[in-house]
This record gives sequence, structure tokens and C-alpha cells, in this order.
Amino acid sequence: MAKATAIAPANIAFVKYWGAKDLERAIPLHPSISMTLDRCCSHSTVAFDEGSVDDAAKGAGQDSITLVDEAGAPAPTPPGFDRRIRRHLDLLRQWAGKEGSFRVATRNSFPAAAGMASSASGFSALTLAATKAMGIDLSEKESSILARRSGSGSAARSVLGGYVEWPAPGQAVDDESCHAVSLAPASHWPLADVVALVETGPKEVSSLDGHRRAGTSPHFAARLELVPGRLAQVREAIQEKDVEKLGVVLEEDAIELHLVAMSSRPPIFYWKPASLTVLEAVRRWREEGIHAYSTMDAGANVHVICPLEESPAVAERLAALPGVDGVIEDRVGDGPRFVGEDLF
Ligand code: DP6
Repeated sequence: MAKATAIAPANIAFVKYWGAKDLERAIPLHPSISMTLDRCCSHSTVAFDEGSVDDAAKGAGQDSITLVDEAGAPAPTPPGFDRRIRRHLDLLRQWAGKEGSFRVATRNSFPAAAGMASSASGFSALTLAATKAMGIDLSEKESSILARRSGSGSAARSVLGGYVEWPAPGQAVDDESCHAVSLAPASHWPLADVVALVETGPKEVSSLDGHRRAGTSPHFAARLELVPGRLAQVREAIQEKDVEKLGVVLEEDAIELHLVAMSSRPPIFYWKPASLTVLEAVRRWREEGIHAYSTMDAGANVHVICPLEESPAVAERLAALPGVDGVIEDRVGDGPRFVGEDLF
């Protein structure tokens, strides 16, 4: 029995992935750019027992999967967790051409109740640990493609550190070649992501449903026309380390994603009153000279992007806002790594 453990971080997109050509395999309708985080991670141990399965079972039915909490005790799983992981393990086993069963234990470093997306970090860590346990060393391109095939498109970006674009500029967007590339390492530009937690339960509408409905919004076609210009501006802002240039575009892109969501059929409202309180406060702080800009994923929490040296002040101000239940101070990070700290 071979075993491997990987830690992979979540990421926050500056130009967001919203809408897919192929939802099952997460082939996006347009590119996205993100920053890989450092503290918000998934930690996954996978053991592979090769050839331990009789022909009838063919492996899948015998895989065992547990989500554990900080103390190592089994934790309640979000809806669809088990089914999505089993499907991905099966896909990895078939890709590797192996027979055998997996044992998986996984843990998230960010609060389970924080309502933050854990599928990008989770599927990235699972892909790396499961393939390593089968004795395979993946290239970055292969890890991005395989993580993407989990159906969590943002997982394709989490296998790389620093600033990441997915798919690569100019790349043919098909299942064989749709993968992420690095735009710059984390050391290039120390930015922070200070997360204001305003919602603690699981989100009401999954990103998958959001992608599915995106095309029903009359504003989606306009978004597709605007995205290429934004990608160019974000690449430039990263290159030049220009936080104002980046901030204006990332706020615009996030608001637009929510405009599309709110005008989809049926509509999706991720915002809560406290989300608006944070968005408004961040705009006000900018007038006082703070370089902070807001973005939101498919949920009510607000991610505030700012230079690392301004992160403590931003965190303090966010924590004092009404409706903010907690704050996570994260920053750009180097991406996934294999570790010796096995979960079983
Ligand atoms: C709004 O399909 O990757 O975060 O599997 O839930 O992580 P999960 O979502 P995924 O869509 C991500 C949607 C987004 C924008 C983004 O990260 O680009």
C-alpha cells in the first residue's frame, strides 16, 4: 500500500470563471486570472492499495473517504462531497490505467463553517496526493488538467503558486490542452487577501448551478465581450505591481459576475446585507488613502485585496464592521506541496 500527502491552497480570482462550455470537465467559456493563497488550504492523505479489488467491484465501490476536523475526528460533509470525490478518484484511476482502491482523509485549514469554497484546494490536493500514491509524478500541466476534470474549474488554478491564468493565453480550449499557467511567482508581488466572513452556512446555490445559468442572463454576452480587455489590464497590473490598476478591474469584474447571477433565470442572490456594508466601507477607506479593493465569489463573504503591509489595518477595520463574524488574513502563496504529515 503506497501513501502520499499533499497540501494545496485555495485561490481568489481577479477575473472570474463564470460560465462553461463543458461543465462536467470544467472547460470555461473565457479565461480567468487568480492569486493562489497561502493559509486557506486543504490537506489530503491518500493511500492506494493496488490490485486489492476483485473484478466485480473494480475499485470505486471500495474507496473510503473521510473529512476530518482539526482534531482528526470525522467532520460533517457538505452536500455532494462524497459523490464528487468518488467520481474524481475513479477518473484518476482510469487515467492512470490502474486497478485498486483508495483510502482518503482530507482536512481544511479554514473554518468549516466559513462558507468559503474549498473545492479548488480540495480537488487540487486530492489530485496530487492520489496520483503520487499511484506512483505517478505529474507535470504542472498534467496536474492542472486532471484537477480541472474534477469539475471544479478553479482547482485547475490552485495547482500553481503565485499569479495564475487559466487557460493559458492563446491556448486551444479543449479537454486535452485546457490548463493553467503561471503569470508570476508569489515573490513577485506580496499582496494580501483579507476575508470578511459574513455568512457561516453553506451557500444556497452552488457555483455549478451558477455556471449552468450564466447564459440565461441578458448581461452575459456583454460580459464575454469585456473579459479580454480586463484580462489584458490585470496581466499588465501584475507585471507593473500596480494595485490601483488591478483593484479597479477586479472590483468591476466581481460586481459584473453578481450582476449576471442576479439577472440569470432563475436569479441567484449571493449578497447579504453585511456584504454591502463591507463593499461600501472599502470604497470609503480608499478615500482615506487605503489601497483596498473588494471581490466576491459565489457567496456572501467579501475578499479584500490590498498590499501586504496594509493587511493588519484592513483586518482590524473589517472586524469592527457590523455583520462581520470573523476575518481571515491570507496572502499570496507558493502553491501546493507534498508533506510528511499524514492524516492516517
Ligand atoms: C465564483 O466551478 O471552480 O469562484 O468548484 O465551487 O470551487 P467550485 O467552483 P468553480 O467556479 C468558481 C467560481 C468563482 C470564480 C472563480 O474562482 O473564478
